[in-house]
Amino acid sequence: MAFRDTGSKIIIKSLEQIEGIRASSKLAAQTLEMIESYVKPGVSTEFLNSICAQFMKDNGAVPATLGYNGYPKETCISVNDVICHGIPGKYELREGDIVNIDVTTILNGYFGDTSKMYTVGSITEHAQKLIKVAKECLNLGIEQCKEGNPLNNIGYFINKHATAHGYSTVYEFCGHGVGIKFHEEPEVCHIAEKGTGPLLKPGMIFTIEPMINAGKARSKVDKKDGWTARTIDGKLSAQFEHTICITKGEPYVLTDIYNEFPIPTEIF
Ligand code: MF3
Ligand code: CO
Ligand code: CO
Repeated sequence: MAFRDTGSKIIIKSLEQIEGIRASSKLAAQTLEMIESYVKPGVSTEFLNSICAQFMKDNGAVPATLGYNGYPKETCISVNDVICHGIPGKYELREGDIVNIDVTTILNGYFGDTSKMYTVGSITEHAQKLIKVAKECLNLGIEQCKEGNPLNNIGYFINKHATAHGYSTVYEFCGHGVGIKFHEEPEVCHIAEKGTGPLLKPGMIFTIEPMINAGKARSKVDKKDGWTARTIDGKLSAQFEHTICITKGEPYVLTDIYNEFPIPTEIF
């Protein structure tokens, strides 16, 4: 017998919780903004990580990734063919690299999670286009974040856009509920069947974080470090992530610090 997933395990956050998660999300986004000017040829990913770690600490936050299931660093930094969970290390950025930095803060006990792409010097047109489409995919997902919409419409429209440009959508890593814990229900798939999944309700908070590959969708996790996920064909991958709160009106993008999205006046 098939059960309809009603989303009963998805936490509906209170106004107080939403305010806490908003503050944490804002700090995570400010960390991404702060690090931008440091992303240059010759800089090691370890150095970028240490600057982000210090910024989080100086602002009263704890990095959620450090020690999470044994993860060893305060951020994830994923370069070129690394899809996600790149561990900052000795690698020094080179002209032409594309880089995702993913920051998750815990501020006053609340989690905020966001990532974006950076470019090192001038990059190829092909890489520029991949980054542009990955961002568009996230925005199309956010557009689906309306009360009463089935959750999986998000992934349906993301993958539709990625494939329309000849790219593929990673299915082995998903977005997730966030706020009280790092990873909560629901799982937000970036490739999914339209009209399925729990219906979105005001007070739900989750991430959308599509990973879009230039080539094949499949990933492989580094056997030595157990984290770094790369494309199987060595082609480029790009990702953007926002933390979003469902409202009775427009989606509330909690990690938007550039006013790219409207700020709703009411949640419930
Ligand atoms: N921030 C990542 C996400 O968007 C998760 C990183 S988990 C880690 O869900 F352990 F790799 F850091
Ligand atoms: Co996330
Ligand atoms: Co993240």
